[in-house]
Amino acid sequence: MVKQCCVLGIESSCDETGVALVDMPAQGLPVLLAHVLYSQIEMHQAYGGVVPELASRDHIRRVLPLTQQVLQDAGRQLADVDVVAFTRGPGLAGALLVGAGVACALGAALGKPVLGVHHLEGHLLSPFLSADPPEFPFVALLVSGGHSQLMRVDGVGSYQILGETIDDAAGEAFDKSAKLLGLDYPGGQALSKLAESGNPKAYKLPRPLLHSGDLDFSFAGLKTAVMVQTNKCAQAHGCVVADLPAAVLADLAASTQAAIVEVLVKKSLTALKQTGLKRLVVAGGVGANRELRQQLNAECARLRTRVHYPELHLCTDNGAMIAMAAAMRLQSGRQTATNNYAFDVKPRWPLDAIGG
Ligand code: KG4
Ligand code: ZN
Repeated sequence: MVKQCCVLGIESSCDETGVALVDMPAQGLPVLLAHVLYSQIEMHQAYGGVVPELASRDHIRRVLPLTQQVLQDAGRQLADVDVVAFTRGPGLAGALLVGAGVACALGAALGKPVLGVHHLEGHLLSPFLSADPPEFPFVALLVSGGHSQLMRVDGVGSYQILGETIDDAAGEAFDKSAKLLGLDYPGGQALSKLAESGNPKAYKLPRPLLHSGDLDFSFAGLKTAVMVQTNKCAQAHGCVVADLPAAVLADLAASTQAAIVEVLVKKSLTALKQTGLKRLVVAGGVGANRELRQQLNAECARLRTRVHYPELHLCTDNGAMIAMAAAMRLQSGRQTATNNYAFDVKPRWPLDAIGG
């Protein structure tokens, strides 16, 4: 029998420091007590992408004040924490080491056990924090800045990868295309905002691997096609990309988004068909995309299939998903937290190799 406990979760795998407290009951879904987040995006924007060393240093500055803040918001003390969870990987090694080091130091000081969590398992289980949590089994479309995968999920820790990207992730396709259109890092959200006033059929862009018959993705060629099309437009208008009329940039954004979304929707539907499952879960930063949500909602309604998302503010990286994944792993009995504070991190770590 698993005992009720309070889990502190620390996320520091990339450019967001997140800390959260989750209350794990003996039975029933864990409940989020509070979560706080500090995004480093502004700091990295000057460089057009994440600078790993700057990210690590900033996590060091933020993580303890955020921990104090989350305890205060939840009306709890450090002594109330029963388990300290942290992101063990995948991610930037230096950034991961900050969260892991702080979590294990806190655990050792408090005499409480610690537990390393897989970042993608955090994303995958984040819809369980929503007002409309899913039930197992389901097909998961996990689309973040670094990963694009379709999975069959039968329970906590039971993840079968059905297909994944062979090059760029969907988030990368959004970010790289956004950069070509002159939008700031990490342009996914900005590109989708710009796309709202554009025509998705204005330019014909490739839908990579759309008819490949398997569930793999490939987005690297798309950014080249976006670059070629953007340069053609600039040439036709006799100007540089930055000076293109707003309507042309909006059409380019809408056409790019349409290409990415069509592939994600079509492959998700194929995965549902192949597995025979009637439930789809979308997770990761790209899961915040409004066009993707609208198309999946429409297709799933047609197929009488349930579709679940994380709350919008929990789609991108956060501590809540890490505390939640730790709590669900503990509750499932698949893993125990340990008082071994000799930590390591796993910058590369396939989700189907987490074991437990
Ligand atoms: O899951 P996440 O926070 O980070 C990783 O674990 O990689 O995902 C970040 C990615 C970025 O590529 C970002 O541009 C993309 O999610 N993203 C979006 C939107 N919001 C975030 N892409 C498209 N539309 C959005 N609304
Ligand atoms: Zn992430």
